[in-house]
Amino acid sequence: MKFDVVVIGGFGHVGLPLAISLANVGKRVCALDVHREAAQSIMAGKMPFIDEGAEDLLRKALESGKLEISLEPEVISKADVVCIVIGTPVDEHLNPEFKPIRAMIDSYIKFFRDGQLIVLRSTVYPGTTENLRSWLKEKGKDVELAFCPERIAEGFAVKELRSLPQIVSSFSEEGVRRCQDLFGLLTDEIVVVTPLEAELAKLFNNVWRYIKFATANQFFMIANDHGADFYRIYHAATYKYPRASDLPTAGFAAGACLFKDAMQLAAFNNNTFNLGYAAMLINEGLPNYLVSRLKQRFRLRELVVGVLGMAFKANIDDGRESLSYKLKKILTFECRRVLCSDAYINGEGFVSPEELIAKSDIIVVATAHREYRSLTVPEGKTVVDIWNLWGNGSVV
Ligand SMILES: NC(=O)c1ccc[n+]([C@@H]2O[C@H](COP(=O)([O-])OP(=O)(O)OC[C@H]3O[C@@H](n4cnc5c(N)ncnc54)[C@H](O)[C@@H]3O)[C@@H](O)[C@H]2O)c1
Repeated sequence: MKFDVVVIGGFGHVGLPLAISLANVGKRVCALDVHREAAQSIMAGKMPFIDEGAEDLLRKALESGKLEISLEPEVISKADVVCIVIGTPVDEHLNPEFKPIRAMIDSYIKFFRDGQLIVLRSTVYPGTTENLRSWLKEKGKDVELAFCPERIAEGFAVKELRSLPQIVSSFSEEGVRRCQDLFGLLTDEIVVVTPLEAELAKLFNNVWRYIKFATANQFFMIANDHGADFYRIYHAATYKYPRASDLPTAGFAAGACLFKDAMQLAAFNNNTFNLGYAAMLINEGLPNYLVSRLKQRFRLRELVVGVLGMAFKANIDDGRESLSYKLKKILTFECRRVLCSDAYINGEGFVSPEELIAKSDIIVVATAHREYRSLTVPEGKTVVDIWNLWGNGSVV
């Protein structure tokens, strides 16, 4: 075999760090994708997105000859192990979308070979691994199927791939052994469970985070509705008090994973998931809440509002499913004008943070990028700092 591992979706936020990390522990890896622009960037040794420490490791992997990249699915047949890490969205009814993985496998079916280990690494609707296993069997493929979920925090993938325990699952001892051999190269700690347990463990991890963010956001709204500064209460409640140490601060909780994974879990549980829906309504409702509070205080129609930070979280360049865009949309309806700025995303019409501050009557810190800490806002302007980035609290 020319490759030990082919990663399908290998230029993505999960796939590329995985391909780089496996290449740097000596595996012959091919990252396969359909994204031509990203291919050029990766080949030139430049990461197509921010991931702390990844660029040096990418260059190292390319120089060693262990990492190749490809846009040709034929490479699938040249590997022992095939990792699948393409996106797994929910549809317009907030139900899991099964099509992308099926359509991808369908279009590449002739390249899968008997005896291969196929590792699903995307976050999937529970039962998907079992479902794909029967489906591949029907298609006459005698492969081992495994589900080994990715649990990195976006922006820190190459670091966390070497520090987090890996959850592995398969349907046979041989499948589990092969997963252990592969992921054991990245970490000493491997947790073996069944595929359904692994699928649920990944969803529970993400949805638990989403619910914690929602708790903080609900507390923020309660405090704010009573004229209290959430951050003074937050400090009082968490200072040297270990049992509250995992209470997050308030802020937009978004991105390509948490919302859709809460909805996948809800769908799996016959749409009975009160806690998940409550978290979704609270997190998704925060932009609306902020605007409604501002409307009570100001004649927004006459004012310019600046949205500072468009990425879905701090210090990365990913705007997917960012609530900053939802905030912008609501404000565009309500205000005279909306200005947007981001330290890492170059969107159409975006202005510099200095221009945004100078021209806006109200400034909303939507993403707490580290670059914004040193900015100063002239007196007389209103600041909505839900993250408390500037340390002056947050009452809206
Ligand atoms: N982003 C994260 O931090 C993160 C963390 C853990 C798990 N996940 C899960 O990992 C999965 C992927 O997420 P992501 O953020 O890496 O998405 P992404 O969009 O960054 O990457 C997916 C990649 O798959 C490629 N792709 C799509 N169709 C393809 C095809 N037919 N053949 C080859 N390549 C194809 C895309 O071009 C893209 O580069 C999702 O299930 C997500 O929930 C993401």
